[in-house]
Amino acid sequence: MLLRAFRVDADEPMVRDLATDPYVPLIGSLPAEATRAEARDWLVRNRGRWSEGRGFSFAVADAATGEAVGSAGLWLAEIAHGRASAGYAIAPRYRGHGLAADALTALTAFAWTLPALHRVELYIEPDNRASVRTAERAGYVCEGRLRSHQEIGGRRRDMLLHAVVRPV
Ligand SMILES: CC(C)(COP(=O)(O)OP(=O)(O)OC[C@H]1O[C@@H](n2cnc3c(N)ncnc32)[C@H](O)[C@@H]1OP(=O)(O)O)[C@@H](O)C(=O)NCCC(=O)NCCS
Repeated sequence: MLLRAFRVDADEPMVRDLATDPYVPLIGSLPAEATRAEARDWLVRNRGRWSEGRGFSFAVADAATGEAVGSAGLWLAEIAHGRASAGYAIAPRYRGHGLAADALTALTAFAWTLPALHRVELYIEPDNRASVRTAERAGYVCEGRLRSHQEIGGRRRDMLLHAVVRPV
């Protein structure tokens, strides 16, 4: 597994697979059941996140073949306070092999190359067991349950706050 920049042509099938997941469109800007054009627009938008100053949006890819299997983002809206937030998704056909934990571990190691960052946060719905387990495997610690923290799919949701801090 490695993290790399998205490739608009090569990664479009993976993004369309990701868009078949009912949850992924609720937590980002990828339209549900994305068409080819919508998947390509999403890839172009995500390639632009760094130049917009929003953060790093990486493809999670197979190290041997380079084939994209998912996405992992490090978002920098709060970098002035030393904090980033992370997010990840693995395309349905590639799930069940712990790839998200490997991607999150790599993303977190990358975060510590940014001197301004001291803390990386994850916001996870309590019943998203695969994501909670992913966070734990990557060394994130649950710091509590944020009640009615945000609206997802038209409903207020509690979120678990997981975080890691820069190793000393
Ligand atoms: C969350 C997600 C990225 C995990 O992808 P993945 O790497 O394929 O995860 P896996 O299926 O390998 O599961 C990781 C771990 O969770 C466990 N797990 C998976 N589903 C589970 C469930 N329903 N209940 C309990 N544990 C579960 C697995 O056993 C594994 O544990 P292990 O490391 O102890 O073996 C993927 O499900 C996804 O893309 N979901 C939609 C987007 C999303 O929710 N992103 C995170 C938002 S916070």
